[in-house]
Amino acid sequence: MPESKPNESKSSFNPEPWIRPNIRTLNPYHAARDDFHEGVLLDANENSFGPAIPTDLPLHRYPETRLNDLRRKWAGFRGIRMEHVFVGVGSDEAIDLLMRIFCEPGRDEIIITPPTYGMYKVAARINNVGVAEAALSKNFELDARAVLSRVTKNTKMIMLCSPNNPTANVLNQVEIERILKDFDRLVVVDEAYVDFSDSGSLCHLMETCPNLVILQTLSKSFGLAAIRMGAALAHPIVIEWMMKVKAPYNVNRLTADAAMLAFDHVDKMREKVRQIITERNRLASALAKHPDVQTIFPSDANFLLVRIRGAQHWYRRLAERGVIVRYRGDQLHCEDTLRITVGTTPENDQLISELYDSKNAPDH
Ligand SMILES: Cc1ncc(COP(=O)(O)O)c(C=O)c1O
Repeated sequence: MPESKPNESKSSFNPEPWIRPNIRTLNPYHAARDDFHEGVLLDANENSFGPAIPTDLPLHRYPETRLNDLRRKWAGFRGIRMEHVFVGVGSDEAIDLLMRIFCEPGRDEIIITPPTYGMYKVAARINNVGVAEAALSKNFELDARAVLSRVTKNTKMIMLCSPNNPTANVLNQVEIERILKDFDRLVVVDEAYVDFSDSGSLCHLMETCPNLVILQTLSKSFGLAAIRMGAALAHPIVIEWMMKVKAPYNVNRLTADAAMLAFDHVDKMREKVRQIITERNRLASALAKHPDVQTIFPSDANFLLVRIRGAQHWYRRLAERGVIVRYRGDQLHCEDTLRITVGTTPENDQLISELYDSKNAPDH
């Protein structure tokens, strides 16, 4: 059985026995910039003559390693403390790091709840970590009992995604809390789409559920997918292990600057989220009247999962017409579905008009 019970009390939380032995004994790389940021900097073999591109930015210097200012801003935005924040190259870096720290290759496993975001399984396979599946119900609801029944002595993490990709719904918080309470190791809740949902983040559980790890990203609501910036929000001990194992300069200077700026413009993000939700509702109403559309699943995200007769046909035909959506009919409980990201008004109009153009219809 697990060596310690994280929920027995806040102060007794000790994830260290779950950490892989080679990581536990790791002597982390000590970067030059950890010690000095100013003065005559001749300690990191940088190019003292500056960047070889026209720029006013000091791009010849290695970036910060701990990014405390950015972590503080992220924490302030979510109402937690900086010590709870790890920032990295998208949330994908955090997923990979957690596996490398906590899962012994060839022995340990994670639990995922299909249909869900594909990276959990891919990251597990890359790290030679086993994957057990506890499916969501046909209505895409989380069943804590089903998840907990898959736990073995080698289960190190349970990966939940809320709002879930590709199903777009928020998972029931009571079920999530039950898993947090009854599972002795890490419960990861991916909140990539949280700002599109009325339910809000689970950050408020951070102090009482030390085994909770929340993943967030600037790729969705903040519209900054290109900069590759994500975070893991977790107990400070977990965060410190992530800091030790990450590449020393994982976040580049340009990304860090853009991310800092993002938190100075949260009102802009909120405005875009409002626009996307308005368009999501308009798109859903237009799709609902289409003769082939059978179900539009409720969405708490910036996309719709749509069950449509001839989904394969529609996927291909739309692509031929220059409108690219994602076929998700190969995923559990998602037969005949397309996942459609909410576009701008003209983009959605184009999608709608192609769907209603009789020349594009399948021969049923
Ligand atoms: C649930 C979920 N988590 C994470 C990501 C990726 O986040 P990032 O761009 O921060 O790596 C996605 C992207 O589609 C996603 O759907």
